[in-house]
Parts: sequence; structure tokens; C-alpha cells
Amino acid sequence: MNKKLLVAAALVGLATGASAQGTVNVICSVQADWCNMIATVYARTTGVKINLALKGSGEALAQLIAEKDNPKTDVWFGGTGDPHLQAAEMGLTLEYKSPSLPQLYPWAQQQAQQSGYKTVGVYSGPLGFGYNTELLKKKKLDVPRSWADLLKPEYKGDIQVANPASSGTAYTMIATLVQMMGEDKAFEYLKGLHRNVGQYTRSGTGPIKAVARGETAVSISFVHDAPQEKMQGFPVETVTPSEGTGAEIGSMSIIKGARNLEQAKKFYEWALTPQAQTFGAAAKQYQLPSNKATAVDPNVPDFKKIKLINYDYAKYGASAERRRLIARWEKDVNSLPR
Ligand code: F6P
Repeated sequence: MNKKLLVAAALVGLATGASAQGTVNVICSVQADWCNMIATVYARTTGVKINLALKGSGEALAQLIAEKDNPKTDVWFGGTGDPHLQAAEMGLTLEYKSPSLPQLYPWAQQQAQQSGYKTVGVYSGPLGFGYNTELLKKKKLDVPRSWADLLKPEYKGDIQVANPASSGTAYTMIATLVQMMGEDKAFEYLKGLHRNVGQYTRSGTGPIKAVARGETAVSISFVHDAPQEKMQGFPVETVTPSEGTGAEIGSMSIIKGARNLEQAKKFYEWALTPQAQTFGAAAKQYQLPSNKATAVDPNVPDFKKIKLINYDYAKYGASAERRRLIARWEKDVNSLPR
């Protein structure tokens, strides 16, 4: 190798070495704008590069299981809490007790305690329905106000919800219904709902986007995902079901065997700060942030006005339970004709 090439190779080596030190590999399960904003701001303020992989909650867990013996991920940021609890139980994530825990709301701290400090709550948000006001009017349909309303034949083909195997939103729906109705009744309900579902999407936010664009009249969605669609001028509104509903505890976990462990911990601490937690709303995503000192945007749903069930996060985040319920949904519901 000539001298010039040697110098070039050494420089590349140096650069790679430096970036390997200053890199953190993050699976990000919130919407892309928030993930990208976090990555940009973090790189600018710390010099550390975030390699992002965008995955829904169920898909993220599947990836972590697949790379268990050779983890390529350092931190899993966001996504519903149940699969984070499952990851904790399966030994995929690392016990880490953040010094910031006392600054977080009790629900976020409880998520950490229940997992043996292998995950933590970063945000929360209630499940509800989204609807397209113009499409409902055009089709002469009423706004659905209860779980029971969604079974009415007039909504046939006009409801979208995600697939629970890939989406934490959809699993939250199943777990909520099981807790409200008892398991057998909940599955009878899901079979009835299946007749009215036009499409099961991969991602939990797919259905509200379809509502916004007038592709479907109604969605089962987290309420906090609607305001950004409305801000873009789409005729979208939300409602929470009169019988009651569940809420997610969006979570964050450090991966066991993370190659960039120190960077992972630094990112994790940063993500729990009030300042970092404002980037959700800055990216027009309106979950309730977990740090009590984070300014709460007026678009964040008002939990006090919503009839929430006392969701048993430990039970429905347990590995066997989550797997069993999703398998039962595939077998008893998804296999049926529509
Ligand atoms: O990013 C929006 C959001 O609704 C989060 O609040 C939630 O954790 C995530 O999507 C769930 O996505 P999915 O249902 O695709 O797993």
C-alpha cells in the first residue's frame, strides 16, 4: 500500500473508531418524526450518533428475540409497555435503576418496579376511536361512542384496527377488552368486531391515518395520535368508549449485552429529562410525558375526563399471557372469513 493510501486508511480507521465510541443503536417505536428529531438533536448536542431502526412494538420485540445471542440494539425507545415487560421477563433487557426515577409519575415508576427495573415508563396515552367527520356524515353514520356501537352492522367494512402480532396498540385493545368483559366474552366481541373490520394494519398508527385520508370511517387508535392529523387539515375527531378503556405506558429499555452500554445509559438518562420529553409534542405527538416536570402540551388528552380501567400491566405484559392471547386471536378471530 502506498503512503497516501496508508494515511487515508488510518484516517478512516480513526473515524470509524471515533464514531463507534460515539454511537448508540436505538429501536424507536414512536412515529418517525419524533424518532428523527431525537436523533438529530441528540447528535447535535452530544456529538453521539443515533442509528435508528423504526419498528412497531410487536415487531421490535420480535427483532430483540431474533438477535438475543448477538444483540445489535442498545436501547429500545417507546412502544407500548406490555412487550417491554415481556422482554424484561425473557431476560432480553438489562436491569438499570435510573437516578431520575423519583422525578417520574407513579405509573412510570411502577412500570420499572414491575419489570425488576428492566424497563421504565416514558409516556402514557389512552385508547379510543378516531373517526372521519365528513365520511360519517356522507354515509349517514352516527359517531360510535361505545365498544358496543362498533358491532353495529352499519359500520361493516368501515373500521380499521392494527394486527396485535405487530402492533402494541392492537394488543392493548385485546387486553383492555379481556379485562373489561372477561376472556370468553371479549373473544366473542372480537369475532363480532372482525365482521366490521375492513383491514388490519401492521402499524398501530395506520388506522388513524386511514381515517384522516378518508379511506375508512372509524379506527381504534390511541387518542394522542389524532391531533397531528387534524392539524394537517384532515376532518378527524376522537372519542373514548363510554364503557371504559385502557391506556398504554409507553416504555424504554436498555438491551442486555448492548455493545454501547455507556452510551445507552447516557441516552436513557437524557430521554427521561423534561427537556428531551418535550420533543414528543414538538413532533406533534401528544402522549403524556412521564417526567412530572415536563411541560404538558394542551393537545395531550385529559385523563381526568376519560373512564379508564385499572389496567393490570404486570398480568398482560407477562410473556405467556401476551403470546397466548395473540395466538388465540389469530386462531379464533383472524382466521374467520369477513
Ligand atoms: O407512536 C405512536 C404510538 O401510538 C405510541 O404511543 C405507541 O406506543 C406506538 O404508537 C404503538 O405502535 P404500534 O401499535 O405500531 O406498536
